[in-house]
Amino acid sequence: MAAPDAELIRANLDLVAPRAADLTAHFYALLFLREPSLRDLFPPAMDTQRDRLVQALIRIVGDLENADALSGYLGRLGRDHRKFDVVTEHYALVGECLVAAIARFSGDAWDQATADAWGRAYAAAAALMIGAAEADAMVNPPYWTAEIVAHERPADDIAVVTVRPEQHFPYRAGQYTTIETPWWPRVWRAYSIANAPDDSGLLTFHIRAVPAGWVSNALVRKAQLGDRIKLGPALGEMVVNHDAGHPVLCVAGGTGLAPLKAIVEEIAHTGLYRAVDLFYGASEHSGLYGLDDLLRLSQRSPWLTIRPAVDDLAIAGISGAVSDVLAAYGPRHDWDAYLSGPPEMVLDSARVLRRLGLPPEQIHHDPVLTRFGPPPSADRIGAAR
Ligand SMILES: Cc1cc2nc3c(=O)[nH]c(=O)nc-3n(C[C@H](O)[C@H](O)[C@H](O)COP(=O)(O)OP(=O)(O)OC[C@H]3O[C@@H](n4cnc5c(N)ncnc54)[C@H](O)[C@@H]3O)c2cc1C
Ligand code: HEM
Repeated sequence: MAAPDAELIRANLDLVAPRAADLTAHFYALLFLREPSLRDLFPPAMDTQRDRLVQALIRIVGDLENADALSGYLGRLGRDHRKFDVVTEHYALVGECLVAAIARFSGDAWDQATADAWGRAYAAAAALMIGAAEADAMVNPPYWTAEIVAHERPADDIAVVTVRPEQHFPYRAGQYTTIETPWWPRVWRAYSIANAPDDSGLLTFHIRAVPAGWVSNALVRKAQLGDRIKLGPALGEMVVNHDAGHPVLCVAGGTGLAPLKAIVEEIAHTGLYRAVDLFYGASEHSGLYGLDDLLRLSQRSPWLTIRPAVDDLAIAGISGAVSDVLAAYGPRHDWDAYLSGPPEMVLDSARVLRRLGLPPEQIHHDPVLTRFGPPPSADRIGAAR
């Protein structure tokens, strides 16, 4: 991306940002007027998608100077779009409607140079998404159908759900996937995979039903053995580099335990044991639903230490929020840290670890923007990175 294009686009985005919601609504109105059949690709309620589109634009424009990060992100996004039934032919029309909507809200500031800059930026982004999607189509299905083969309820609002994909599902321990249930067609939600890959091909998820949540309640309270769900491709960068050989610090809150349990299993499978400390926190004792299994595993595995923490309750001499417990255990400069759970806990723990001297590149977590709802405030997201 040429620097003048980046400058024009940034200036234009600053101008239209205050009217992002209207712009997005206008974009979809144009798109569905031009091609009504595209409405079927989207969920019945479009509020979340509206936010996501604007977020994607900001991310792309913000990363213009960092082509590697941009191509990795857009490649993953393009592969992921196959599950929505998006095909190459859709991209041109979406680009036209997007640029037309931006023009509509730019007023007098819109000129040919800005239009051309946007056209080139969209074409470059679309080419990366299309290229990755076409390459992926040679080796993978657009999504994986999977049958529910086990459904347990360790607590009223938590289900441990195991599924068998009909085709091989490639992933690494620590990654997540997206799930569409038969009860909410076109509504996809992210869930971490709670086990390391093994010969059985089974995948386990830990799902907590959130108040009025569509997909989580369906999976916890409605799903039964034999039901079929759809899985998107595996996503996420929270995977262990076994070559580095660093000791591993895992910090889990609630169902954030899932990807960290998978990571611990993967370390056990490799046989390349290194010290693993797993801090596991919850606001009340019933939230530590996986504790017994973990304690049993640690009895067989001298390299694994489990440190539970419950707010306002002392367990084995430890009390307080998991980030306080973490602070009490002191510096760990050469450790790799993996954090997973509610945004507040992930952000607090990341801050504690940085204060204890752990370099940011050794602190790994999934996007905190969407996991378990919105984060406490935007500046604290910045602080975590
Ligand atoms: C990378 C990633 C991994 C994730 N892994 C897991 C996982 O392993 N297990 C898991 O259970 N969830 C996980 N989530 C969260 C999951 O994707 C959904 O956001 C969650 O299940 C809610 O979806 P829903 O359709 O039930 O609720 P929605 O229909 O999306 O939300 C309904 C209402 O509930 C509110 N809400 C959403 N989340 C919460 C919350 N935590 N507490 C209170 N209110 C809330 C919403 O604001 C909305 O008002 C993960 C999210 C991400 C981004
Ligand atoms: C450069 C081009 C594009 C970009 C940057 C982009 C970006 C995004 C992003 C970031 C999401 C949210 C994904 C998630 O959070 O899981 C999304 C979802 C989606 N996109 Fe795109 N997209 C592009 C092109 C297209 C095209 C051509 C179509 C075809 C109509 C399309 C249809 C969809 C659909 C159906 C969803 C899911 C909506 C939902 O779940 O709410 N996108 N897109």
